[in-house]
Amino acid sequence: MSKVTIDTSTSRATPTPVPGKRMTVPSLRGRKADGITQEPIVMLTAYTMRMAQLLDPHCDMLLVGDSLGQVIYGLPSTIPVSLEMMCAHGAAVVRGSWHALVAVDMPFGSYEGSPGQAFESASRVMKETGCAAVKLEGGEAMAETIAFLSKRGVPVIGHVGLTPQAVNMLGGYGARGRETAEAKKILADAKAVDQAGAFCMVVEGVLEEIASQVTASVAAPVIGIGASPQCDGQVLVTEDMLGLFERTPRFVKRYDDLAARIGEAAAAYAAEVRSRSFPTADQTYPPKGRPKGA
Ligand code: KIV
Repeated sequence: MSKVTIDTSTSRATPTPVPGKRMTVPSLRGRKADGITQEPIVMLTAYTMRMAQLLDPHCDMLLVGDSLGQVIYGLPSTIPVSLEMMCAHGAAVVRGSWHALVAVDMPFGSYEGSPGQAFESASRVMKETGCAAVKLEGGEAMAETIAFLSKRGVPVIGHVGLTPQAVNMLGGYGARGRETAEAKKILADAKAVDQAGAFCMVVEGVLEEIASQVTASVAAPVIGIGASPQCDGQVLVTEDMLGLFERTPRFVKRYDDLAARIGEAAAAYAAEVRSRSFPTADQTYPPKGRPKGA
């Protein structure tokens, strides 16, 4: 991985990286050769410039997921997320990264109508954000669209298993594939997405056996979320992994407890403001000629 530094002395928004080469679609697709992925693919979600800067050196891919609807906007599901939201956040994440491949989710209603509608939406996302790929949910039903986009220069990440945009059909966000028929359907979906030309795919919320079969049956790398260690890579929603929410789904491992730490920092600040112990002379502009803090 290239070594990068962020120069924050001139601007918070403009990183000055040590020139490094961004991950590409062929380099990621090539991680899986003859069905084997030697180095698992690391993916996290990012929605903002600063989070992208922090995650970028550690990730192969940053996903601007439509989960931003819930995580950033407090929406009840991903259904209301718009193309405008995805473009604004996608552009911010591209500006904050230089190493990871950035992929942007196609929001509900922006691609299912026809391959032509999908191309219009995907090309807008790519032009307005500078991202290198889009992700869309659906298996066999989306195969024609995935092929249409891939043949026209739009790299596609598929998404099968639990597909949150179908929450109203599924009736919730529980793991999929517990029934034999549904397990077979998930495998068929993954194969259809693979054959249609997706360069990799997310498999979400499935039993380990299904994840294992999918990973062994498709040529494209499989990135799992709630899908066991059998996959070619893993993705988590960053805010879940950092412990920013009360609820921790079973498949999430918390690597920090940021909610508690932010609460403590905010409480300390509030107490110091109320007791007038912040700001001190250290945080106050001195008159000309007088040293800071004197
Ligand atoms: O929207 C999202 O963040 C996703 C990931 C959870 C895979 O689709």
